Amino acid sequence: MTLTVTGLSAIRSGRTILHPTSLVIHPRERIGIVGASGSGKSTLGHALIDDLRQQGHSVAHVPQSPDEALDPLRSMAFHWREAEEALGLQAGHADREGLFRALKIEGGDLRKRPWGWSRGMQQRFVIAMALIGAPDLIALDEPTSALDPVVAAATMELLSGFLDGKDTAMALITHDLGLAALRVDRLLVMADGHLVEEGRTEDILERPETQAAKALSAHRNWMALPC
Ligand SMILES: Nc1ncnc2c1ncn2[C@@H]1O[C@H](COP(=O)(O)OP(=O)(O)OP(=O)(O)O)[C@@H](O)[C@H]1O
Ligand SMILES: [Mg+2]
Repeated sequence: MTLTVTGLSAIRSGRTILHPTSLVIHPRERIGIVGASGSGKSTLGHALIDDLRQQGHSVAHVPQSPDEALDPLRSMAFHWREAEEALGLQAGHADREGLFRALKIEGGDLRKRPWGWSRGMQQRFVIAMALIGAPDLIALDEPTSALDPVVAAATMELLSGFLDGKDTAMALITHDLGLAALRVDRLLVMADGHLVEEGRTEDILERPETQAAKALSAHRNWMALPC
């Protein structure tokens, strides 16, 4: 399903932190929202998620740290059940085995609290929960920045592999152009609350036009990164 939002904006404390922004995301498309810290990436991400949900689309959100999604006092089984219930599924009706296998967390003990799992496994569990019900879009805001580079790379690889052949689109919010370069088809570059440049990933990396895109691509040897 094609996802369309028009004129998304945000004002906080009397200041416009997101200027009117419109975008279209095609089924299976993987977009990256990139830009310097404070440029408005997360604000656009939240506005995008809210607007699409109001339109009736299913949109899953993966926050930066598993701590934001998991209650330290609750077992992993509890979280899973809660995620199923939120989607109106009966307990045990999500394809837990398939999702756990795809994200390599089959060995995780669901009776444990989050801190009984490694950080990487926790974040992959959060991604698995997000994928229950095959959402129209999975939006991830800096999903691997709390993980070490090897685990981060493996996590994105597993997610990518899982999404191959599925209709679920992906919006990856990151300041890490190396990560985006490998994982998304199209880049949206934010600066000062504006969407300043948009295009195919390789075009923006090779021929950035705006100052913001030039600064991002100049700062990383993005082809050499493993993730
Ligand atoms: N609730 C708020 N009240 C006031 N200003 C805010 C609020 N939320 C965000 N901002 C400001 O809006 C701007 C954009 O914030 P946002 O979190 O979207 O940036 P970002 O690109 O996601 O940054 P980062 O890479 O650090 O996560 C920043 O200048 C931020 O300080
Ligand atoms: Mg942010």
